[in-house]
Amino acid sequence: MRFKFILIFATLLLINGCQKTEETIDIIPQRIVLNISESPTTSIGLTWMTRDAVSLSQVQIAEATVWTQFLDSLKTYDATSSEFITDKKEQIFNHALLLTNLLPDTKYVYRVGGDSIWSEWIQFKTAKIENEPFEFTFFGDPQNNNKDHVSRVFRQAFKHSPNSEFWLFSGDIISEPEDTQISEFFFAGNPFFSFVPLALAPGNHDRAYETENGEIVRNEKGKKQRLDVIDKYWNSSFTLPENGLPGFEETSYYFDYQGVRIIMINSNNEDMLDEQAVWLDEVLQNNKNNWSIVSFHHPIYSAGRERDDDETRDIFMPVFDKHNVDLVLTGHDHAYARSYKLKNGKRVNINELGTVYVVSVSGPKMYSVNSIYNDIMAKTGGEVQLFQVIRFENNKMIYNAYTASGELYDSFELNK
Ligand SMILES: [Fe+2]
Repeated sequence: MRFKFILIFATLLLINGCQKTEETIDIIPQRIVLNISESPTTSIGLTWMTRDAVSLSQVQIAEATVWTQFLDSLKTYDATSSEFITDKKEQIFNHALLLTNLLPDTKYVYRVGGDSIWSEWIQFKTAKIENEPFEFTFFGDPQNNNKDHVSRVFRQAFKHSPNSEFWLFSGDIISEPEDTQISEFFFAGNPFFSFVPLALAPGNHDRAYETENGEIVRNEKGKKQRLDVIDKYWNSSFTLPENGLPGFEETSYYFDYQGVRIIMINSNNEDMLDEQAVWLDEVLQNNKNNWSIVSFHHPIYSAGRERDDDETRDIFMPVFDKHNVDLVLTGHDHAYARSYKLKNGKRVNINELGTVYVVSVSGPKMYSVNSIYNDIMAKTGGEVQLFQVIRFENNKMIYNAYTASGELYDSFELNK
């Protein structure tokens, strides 16, 4: 009898303990992201998610120290929290804060949370004011099977360039705007996204579904129909710059990083490309940096299938030529293509003014390699997952593409 009583008591304790653990897990900060800001010398965006509501959503930050002395000079800021209903009709909570008034070229340590559960302490560094050498990493579409097949690409990329100042994505980070796939993207990116700022442009697979009476509209073949607007998961999961045109907040924007102007464009709405080309022209006209890079999803020169994205080519290429944009980074075609330096669609000498166009892919989905533009391509290929490390050293840009298994795949330099 006594033994039975002890057994029941122990079982109740165990059940109670399990419930507590589950509750605790639901308010542990997940999907922690550092987001590039429009002023990387003095500000940075922070986003994270909790499965359950929290009463207090906060960020603590201090200048990093060699030991735990930073704990004596912490500043605490309130973040904004918003409810998000997933495709499975589950309620989750996204938290966001733009940290401003930071010092340039300074290492900070931060954590997110606010209730009894905080994240671990995480470090990042602000950009320098001077045009000092730096590098960043570029990824084409991850899109599919992020957990299984993109995790190793991110890990290999970090091994190759642990000092990349940010990771840049040209869209289609997932295939469908569904919570399971978003979870997989963050699984693959954990813990890198929490200490390497992200700069992202959206792709066609980041667009919202068309719905009618709460149901997704399907075409006659049963395919889910999309709208031209980016799904709300994007603005909820990231805190990206809002210095683009109205309506393109966090999807078209630009920032300057140590002598390089980087412009991210949302190329998903064909009807809005003209308007964005005018905006792009202004942003390039006002560029005081030595270099300029533009990134968006739909390639100027397609690399896969029978595709030929003449919309972005016809509208954006004259602007690239006018301002001699150095490098254009795109995705969408699930293959690799890197052009020679081009002007008005024609090959020019590497020392002449012109633009290099890149299409790349980081995920496992592949299309057949397109041969329409072979005469202007320096390198094409398929069935290879890639990442690109792009380094700036004063008047030199060094571009290296690496395979998922770490071999050098493509390389070139630009000099000014
Ligand atoms: Fe795409």
